[in-house]
Amino acid sequence: MRRMLVAGNWKLNGTLSTIEELVNGIKQGLDSVSGNCDVAVCPPALYLQHVQQLAAGSRLLLGAQNVCDQDEGAYTGEISAAMLNEFGCRYAIVGHSERRSLYGESDELVARRYAAAQRKGIIPILCVGELLEEREAGQTESVVGRQLDAVLASQGVDSFAKAVIAYEPVWAIGTGKTATPEQAQDVHAFIRDKLAALNKTVAESVVIQYGGSVKGANAADLFSKQDIDGGLIGGASLQAEEFLKICQAAG
Ligand code: 13P
Repeated sequence: MRRMLVAGNWKLNGTLSTIEELVNGIKQGLDSVSGNCDVAVCPPALYLQHVQQLAAGSRLLLGAQNVCDQDEGAYTGEISAAMLNEFGCRYAIVGHSERRSLYGESDELVARRYAAAQRKGIIPILCVGELLEEREAGQTESVVGRQLDAVLASQGVDSFAKAVIAYEPVWAIGTGKTATPEQAQDVHAFIRDKLAALNKTVAESVVIQYGGSVKGANAADLFSKQDIDGGLIGGASLQAEEFLKICQAAG
């Protein structure tokens, strides 16, 4: 059976003190979360060490919101996978829609970031998802398929044995308008089937999270679907109680 993974993507939020309160709050409630669910938070990079120290000795895992596609050198403003390793990161999000749309990250760059994470043993959380106009034009599968193909072409299907996929329909991110469990399940099944055509074992084992306006109130319905293995949570991950409710729904 696949494990579940609920990860909080804090985006550009938090201060030293609010982060301390949030991490302590999450830690206090972790006993109420099933042992089959991994729980992670992805703070802004500058706070990784702070969170690492606060989370020490607990089962709370750490992830970064991005990772450089290069290992080292003249890449101003970037953070490498080796650096993330030094601060205990198990995961790095790559290809988040905000990175793709606001910072112009291409499918190819995302694939290189994915590869850079894996070179250092960090598990990339590869985000894929369509815009509203793409969904309305019936292009959801071709867009998600194209985003996956960029990684498959350069890294191969076997690389997904050490990766997580997050399906995040862009129209559902931060809008309060979540995909229905059926809409999400359809795309998750498409992703798994696409990988299964290349390697059944890898497809069966890869964790596919859903992201986009997940809350305590809708998480259980989403997570009850066969191919939805947890969530990548934005806004609702900034409050310990709400985030824990989502984690409990993954039980
Ligand atoms: P929201 O949960 O705020 O919609 O954000 C989802 C997301 O982008 C997680 O990466």
